[in-house]
Amino acid sequence: MLQVPFTYISSVVAVSSLFLFVVRSVKSVFFHALSKYPGPPLAAATTLYRAYYDIVKDGGWLEHLFSLHETYGILYNPKAYHDIYGIGTRFIKEKEMYSCFATDKSVFAMHDHKLAMQLRTAIGPFFSRKAILDLENVIQSKVYFAFRSLSLEVITTYCFARSSHAMDAPNFQHPILSAIDNTLPMIWIFKHFPLVQKVLLSVPECFASVLKPSTTGIIEQKRMIKEQIDQILEDPSTLSRGGHETIYHYFLNPKNKEEFSMRLETDPKDNSLPNPTGELEGRRDSTTLSKNYLLDEGLYMRFAGSDTVGTVCTAALYHILNNPLVHQTLLKEMMEIWPDKGILIGYEKLEKLPYFTAVIKEALRMGHGVVSPLPRIVGPSDAEVLGITIPAGTVVSMGAPILHYNPEIFPNPMSFIPERWIGEENQSLDKYLVSFSKGPRSCLGINLAWCELYLTIANVVRKLDLKPDNSTYVPCSLCYR
Ligand code: HEM
Ligand SMILES: *[C@@H]1O[C@H](CO)[C@@H](O)[C@H](O)[C@H]1NC(C)=O
Ligand SMILES: *[C@@H]1O[C@H](CO)[C@@H](O)[C@H](O)[C@H]1NC(C)=O
Repeated sequence: MLQVPFTYISSVVAVSSLFLFVVRSVKSVFFHALSKYPGPPLAAATTLYRAYYDIVKDGGWLEHLFSLHETYGILYNPKAYHDIYGIGTRFIKEKEMYSCFATDKSVFAMHDHKLAMQLRTAIGPFFSRKAILDLENVIQSKVYFAFRSLSLEVITTYCFARSSHAMDAPNFQHPILSAIDNTLPMIWIFKHFPLVQKVLLSVPECFASVLKPSTTGIIEQKRMIKEQIDQILEDPSTLSRGGHETIYHYFLNPKNKEEFSMRLETDPKDNSLPNPTGELEGRRDSTTLSKNYLLDEGLYMRFAGSDTVGTVCTAALYHILNNPLVHQTLLKEMMEIWPDKGILIGYEKLEKLPYFTAVIKEALRMGHGVVSPLPRIVGPSDAEVLGITIPAGTVVSMGAPILHYNPEIFPNPMSFIPERWIGEENQSLDKYLVSFSKGPRSCLGINLAWCELYLTIANVVRKLDLKPDNSTYVPCSLCYR
């Protein structure tokens, strides 16, 4: 009996949504402020166009961008990168993208510009050059062989004064690393279909692991870090066990705490701001940090500090071994300051080596660190990118590989040529190396990253006699195209 009106209603709904979709699409394809930009009309009509490449083509968006640019005859102007990310921009991070990492309160995911700047000022000193030099021994003692396990071990020891035991895991397949591998591909589904993330993260843990192994990664990591925070809050003496300052030490130090609360409460009336100390609002207890904030920050550091460094080390070693001349030149330079490989070599000695530094820069260029274009929202008012006015609210981005493989900036972009970075006449290239991004939201861990890169690559190259193994040679899995 109900069938007739129900079918009727659903067809009306279907027809009117189709109508709305068509009207919206026509508007965005023909009348939108950005419609003068060339590109496939379907891409202007629906975000599903991009979702297809992100999800079905398994992260193939960047590759597709390269081919779109060929099809439509557009050349990338590197200046656009600086207009989007450079010093002085106030573009915010796109919430839809960064929420996917399920660490909303962390400095990395924070989309509010002012709060992000406050968090950066507060956390910055923990990763300052001086702090890194003081803790160089943390890295020195972890220099081994499997890069991602190594960088995970460094970041957990550095931030949490605890071993992750990633170096001891069979085949270096540590559960945290597998969790990261399982979680990352889900990011694209979460971005395009945010409801999926909400549902997966809100169902009870036992169901979530059945539904999709990829979310157990996040849940499992959350559980581990939560345990550690609880333990520390219960017994703060565990903080001193590691023999150096942990990030929680740093957060919970009364002096820093004041600084945090002071900074975070500068604008108490602005309720629209997500507040990392949110749980405390109204309690006027400005000396405690939100546990959720500590959790998000701790969770994110493992992502930020492991895959990025690991990828660049792998790229470096791959290209060094694949280019015998580079290998020889590098070894010769190292021998001069490090004749006895049985003795520790300091970071500050290594960073003075011009050829080695150029090798790392070239590895950062070809390994990228992060390949995905990082979305920014134009604001607070309309802004110019390459001299063209882009309306506030537009999502803009530019992937590092698009600059790093630009043949006009880097001739022979697919070849590993450290010399291109050497000498005063080549110094101007530095501004096109965007592995750590640029400007107000650039990498906060850059000092730690450089220190790890120098120590890891130096020890492996100087101490081990390695040859490329052709049997496991995977063409270009390291470089992006
Ligand atoms: C070679 C290694 C690394 C590379 C290539 C790299 C690259 C990047 C990039 C491109 C961003 C910008 C992300 C965005 O716009 O959303 C970023 C942000 C960040 N990185 Fe790194 N990173 C590296 C190592 C590290 C390490 C070791 C840490 C350790 C703590 C770290 C901590 C962070 C944090 C906290 C942010 C967020 C900053 C913000 O959003 O304001 N990174 N990194
Ligand atoms: C600067 O870069 C060019 C081109 O890559 C290279 O041929 C030249 O040797 C570099 N300069 C120095 C001083 O190495
Ligand atoms: C490496 O292996 C590939 C494919 O098996 C082969 O074509 C190539 O000649 C090998 N290169 C060397 C240096 O042995």
